Amino acid sequence: MMTAYPIIDHTFDVVVVGAGGSGLRATLEAARHGLKVANITKVFPTRSHTVAAQGGISASLGNMEPDDWRWHMYDTVKGSDWLGDQDAIEYLCRNAAESVYELEHFGVPFSRTEEGKIYQRAFGGMTKDYGKAPIQRTCAAADRTGHAILHTLYGQSLRYDAVFFIEHFALDLIMEDGRCRGVMSWCLDDGAIHRFRANRVILATGGYGRAYLNCTSAHTCTGDGNAMVLRAGLPLQDMEFVQFHPTGVFSAGVLITEGVRGEGGYLTNSSGERFMERYAPNAKDLASRDVVSRAMTIEIREGRGCGPNKDHIHLHLSHLDPKIIHERLPGISDSARIFAGVDVTKAPIPVLPTVHYNMGGIPTNYHGEVYTLTNGNPDTIVPGLMAIGEAACVSVHGANRLGSNSLIDLVVFGRAAGLKCAADVTPGERQPDLAKGAGDTALARLDRFRNAKGGTPTSRLRLKMQKAMQEHCAVFREANVLREGRELVSQVYKGVADIDVKDRSMIWNADLLETLEFDNLIAQAAVTVEGAVTREESRGAHAREDFPKRDDEKWMKHTLGWLDQKTGQVRLDYRPVHTYTMSNDIEYIAPKARTY
Ligand code: FUM
Repeated sequence: MMTAYPIIDHTFDVVVVGAGGSGLRATLEAARHGLKVANITKVFPTRSHTVAAQGGISASLGNMEPDDWRWHMYDTVKGSDWLGDQDAIEYLCRNAAESVYELEHFGVPFSRTEEGKIYQRAFGGMTKDYGKAPIQRTCAAADRTGHAILHTLYGQSLRYDAVFFIEHFALDLIMEDGRCRGVMSWCLDDGAIHRFRANRVILATGGYGRAYLNCTSAHTCTGDGNAMVLRAGLPLQDMEFVQFHPTGVFSAGVLITEGVRGEGGYLTNSSGERFMERYAPNAKDLASRDVVSRAMTIEIREGRGCGPNKDHIHLHLSHLDPKIIHERLPGISDSARIFAGVDVTKAPIPVLPTVHYNMGGIPTNYHGEVYTLTNGNPDTIVPGLMAIGEAACVSVHGANRLGSNSLIDLVVFGRAAGLKCAADVTPGERQPDLAKGAGDTALARLDRFRNAKGGTPTSRLRLKMQKAMQEHCAVFREANVLREGRELVSQVYKGVADIDVKDRSMIWNADLLETLEFDNLIAQAAVTVEGAVTREESRGAHAREDFPKRDDEKWMKHTLGWLDQKTGQVRLDYRPVHTYTMSNDIEYIAPKARTY
């Protein structure tokens, strides 16, 4: 019999789940329009993973040289390998500059040019005049841009009446007749269960990098919102597209910003060759991330890796002026010393492509409203439910995200979601009572894991999943390897029935929390690998050795994946890419070969 859980009830106009860059930006926007907003966050807001973002935030400010949002849009469409929705990409790029100026006015301490303007650096795939040459478009606060933005947004959020529920773990959505009516949470600190009724629930729960063994993501990046969406019977989109950042510190996985290459750093193989010149003759080290990660992997595979085991690549910055390193790259200088024992002014950093970002997630439009596929309509809106940030798939990044397009995605679409709530919800609007037993299924799941007495510790299953994903759903993919990966993930999924949780308490029960997080991860791993097995083409970050070409005729479409919770089986369907722009200010950018 299930334990009785007393419930604390709340009613808000808007509940935002997650307090990273997008969650805070949405919270702030909705609250300053007079809506009663709650923010539920697993960690203290300034510990959210946005804090780890280093190199910067893209916007065509034109502070270093002339720039245009249309050039930014062209680069983003090309970077996405034509899987991005062009209406959403237009929304992103044309609102980017205003969003960065807002951040500046909120107090973000951006680095400055001699004239006092926001400093901008070069980043991979960012070009001038529709691909002619690299451009400096990425606005930076040294190499701690995410830290600066997150702290500023939290400070600003406190100016309004938003209520923060800190160290609350969101358990599940409350769905009634296809509408999202609220969300359940578990307060980690005192063990209480909370039930939130809301007119709108906005998921800003980040990515699920921890499905892999080696990633730049925090341990908290378990895609909790994505998994809640799957449990609600809704699909996730384009989950097969997983970004590997070229420069994670070898073996530790810690991020070394692309800003290093933006400031003039470069990669070499074991013979000291700047091999990117062969793979991307124009952009070289500043090609898009998928291109650089593949080139590094090929160098290593073909025996030109560095070190005694020829298993990594060297990233050089010792030729840069130490003043530049000190002013613009202080954080990675520390990371290289701590995690690789390297003084960057004297020696190269050993690096390896490392899982960094999920292009896939919860399908939405550019207002943040969640889409599903019903009765043949792939753009059916799920009433009451919104998603933003890495949790969402708007889709502006398509098959591959450009560096520094994530921070801008967070603030542009966080703001857009807040504005949409302000437009559609009247403050204090009366909400119908929740159905009897609302939230019971979430509590049943919690209770099942809390009292699990199987024979397999969560950590063992999690490691098996992480190894399977790392080895079988990697930079390069091939049918047999992917199928083996699918089988391994399926075994892990079945293994959940035999899970063992030792701690039965409700207060700071890390054993139970990690189990719930792992259960979230394995659901997403299953959808990811199924999408990867099925997509028989190469596009962006999805590089199939058995299907090396992009196939626009068959595959220029978004994958939708639903999970059968009982069996772990994934069902796939598709929705068309939006091949139209938002306004007439720019024409649709037709697919062509993608070279850098
Ligand atoms: O390399 C970096 O600084 C990462 C930036 C990003 O993922 O946007």
